[in-house]
Amino acid sequence: MSQQQEYRRQFLKWSALSTLGTALPFSGSATSGTWLEHLLQEDGIKNIHDLKRKSLEILGQDAQNYLNGGADDLTTVMVNEAAYKGIKIRARRLIDVRSVSTEIELFGQKMDQPILMSPVGFQKFFHEGGEIASAKAARAKGFTMIASSVSNDSFTDISQQSGANLWFQLYPSTDRKVTKILLDRAEAAGCKVLALTVDTPVVGNRENSGTTLMNMISAGELPMGNFESILAEGVPFTDPSMTWDMIDWLKANCSMKILIKGIVTREDAALCLTRGADGIIVSNHGGRQLDSGLSTIECLPEIVDEVKGQIPVLIDGGIRRGTDIFKALAIGATAVCIGRPYCWGLGAMGQAGVELALDILKTELIRDMQLAGTTSVSGITRAHILI
Ligand code: FNR
Repeated sequence: MSQQQEYRRQFLKWSALSTLGTALPFSGSATSGTWLEHLLQEDGIKNIHDLKRKSLEILGQDAQNYLNGGADDLTTVMVNEAAYKGIKIRARRLIDVRSVSTEIELFGQKMDQPILMSPVGFQKFFHEGGEIASAKAARAKGFTMIASSVSNDSFTDISQQSGANLWFQLYPSTDRKVTKILLDRAEAAGCKVLALTVDTPVVGNRENSGTTLMNMISAGELPMGNFESILAEGVPFTDPSMTWDMIDWLKANCSMKILIKGIVTREDAALCLTRGADGIIVSNHGGRQLDSGLSTIECLPEIVDEVKGQIPVLIDGGIRRGTDIFKALAIGATAVCIGRPYCWGLGAMGQAGVELALDILKTELIRDMQLAGTTSVSGITRAHILI
């Protein structure tokens, strides 16, 4: 090792340990290393942007297009990320920040951090380990993953093989008998929370996605584990006729908590409350559905103000940094979800890459909380930001 590399190593060790050494006990995992070791070994991967870059070196063009693409001109994809830059943090000083807790409680479940993994379909397109690798990473790092209806492996298999705390994301088929089977299977696997995606009455105009994904699905190379042998040919797995009555139907047909994923207006937040939803995910599907040009972080304030703490409000879309998480929490989000960031990790390095993505974001959040003078999630308030 050259002198310069040794200096770099020492500096990295100090800069990581000076804030994290006592605050963050990383558990052992399939990667059998700490975040610091990852950082030192995986040269150049310091953050989520580096992980994306690494995934671009490895993934084929079609998989990249599927993962990084969006609707129309990708305006919403871009503003989801960019809008966070416009929010400034007001840091407080002279507060003892040696001990920081990122714990929260959601639907009676204790979570070590206010970060969940958004549902992302067809993950075997990124890595042969697919959703099971992501869920194993979630388990190793103590995260909750929302498994997609259109996972390559079934919810039952992901749950059994990973042991992770999983929530189920639902695309309801027009055939409600099929949907009922999915609900029953999720509950039998121990799932307590269902996320109903409501921004996909039809699939968005993803011009850059190409036909490879569809061809691979048709050829059975990318199975739809949840729907195998229960969805008749030609029956769609999404339902463009779905209305708010779906919440009543779900409540009558399962006992899981119902999160509505895809809310972007105060009017619909109010309907979530009156129709008895248990929670909201502010989401525009990562800019893959309507290319509206409005970011989710811009939608968050009016929704939080409408909900007034009556039910949890989560948010996803464009979160790439601990500061982004901090800003969403400051506006009033109960927790955030990340989609592409962990899939970049999956594409780059399989399970180890997902673990790295989770470690990076949690580590950044803790450091940012310390730098802003906050020691708990509930202590992060609107007074900590300027919108
Ligand atoms: C998604 N998303 C998604 N959402 C959903 O409800 N069901 C799904 O099956 C999928 N599939 C999916 C595939 C891919 C490749 C992506 C990138 C996204 C949307 C996802 O849950 C989430 O809303 C966004 O990914 C959040 O934005 P970021 O974090 O990717 O910027």
